[in-house]
Amino acid sequence: MEQKLENIRKDATEKIEKALNTTELENIKNEYLSRKGELTNIKKNLKDLPDDQKRIIGSLSNEIFNSLSVLVEEKYKKLYNEELRQKLEKERIDISLPGSYTPRGKVHPLTQTVNEIVEIFEGMGFSLIKSENSPEVETEYVNFDMLNFPPEHPARDMQDTFYTQNASNVILRSQTSNSQIREMLNHKPPIRVISPGRVYRCEAVSARKNNLFHQIEGLLIDKDITFGDLKGVLNEFIRVYFGSMRPTRFRTSFFPFTEPSAEVDVQCIMCGGKGCRTCSGTGWLEVLGAGMVDVNVLKNVGIDPEVYSGFAFGMGVERLTMLKYAIDDIRLFFNNDVRFLKQF
Ligand code: DAH
Repeated sequence: MEQKLENIRKDATEKIEKALNTTELENIKNEYLSRKGELTNIKKNLKDLPDDQKRIIGSLSNEIFNSLSVLVEEKYKKLYNEELRQKLEKERIDISLPGSYTPRGKVHPLTQTVNEIVEIFEGMGFSLIKSENSPEVETEYVNFDMLNFPPEHPARDMQDTFYTQNASNVILRSQTSNSQIREMLNHKPPIRVISPGRVYRCEAVSARKNNLFHQIEGLLIDKDITFGDLKGVLNEFIRVYFGSMRPTRFRTSFFPFTEPSAEVDVQCIMCGGKGCRTCSGTGWLEVLGAGMVDVNVLKNVGIDPEVYSGFAFGMGVERLTMLKYAIDDIRLFFNNDVRFLKQF
């Protein structure tokens, strides 16, 4: 028995010395020192030995177990450190190398303005219109007729419209006001929506005009809505958008779909009302059109004007962005020159 134990010691010691990596060493450890290993087996069977042998074999096998454990432990540390060293060598990272540069994208300034304006109106209880109620390709009927533009009325010429060739009455919408009609046809009052989007007009492109631009339309229909409500909402919008309490001015105007109608001016943000180039010397900047929804429009969409009233407003996103950031050419928004875009 003693000889057998010494053989185990010898074999195991040799194997441990020869082990080339930690995995091999794990296996050797299992073979000799685990609960199913050879030494454990002998210790388990001690009880079957004669008494005088029990003590000798017992202490010898313990001693071998302990010294092998120490050997395994030491060898493990060596192998582990060597493996770690190799791994670090292989995966070496040169932290002084320049990183690979990924240019960061930015939200387009027009989108920023739309988001900002929508947020302001959401704060006053308006919600974003569903896109299906605000199509860019529209019928003349919804874009004009339903909005109370009479046929042949000169008001139609105020907005030079793009007609499509494949269907005579299908146009690119000239105003986001088409969404008023679709919203009212699809929802019963109370209505309180905001509707941003692209509009198209067949115009010569210049520093002030592009044939594609953006508008934001607002519509509120409920019982007992007055011009006072319109003024309150728009004054609040202007206060938040332009950042301080700026004087506003409601000027009488005309739109076929509102009565009465108004154009809203804000005191010039460049000169504070003294008169400058931006405001053409008037001291005022026109920022939006608005009015009480015309009774004819309510009738067109089947809303009873005896019960409900409401207001609408529309504003140009490019214009509001240009005023806020003192941009003097609308074409800058559409050229996609990153030197311009990354300033926002
Ligand atoms: N649709 C008008 C335009 O493009 C702007 C406008 C004026 C919209 C008055 C409105 C409004 O909703 O009430 O010139």
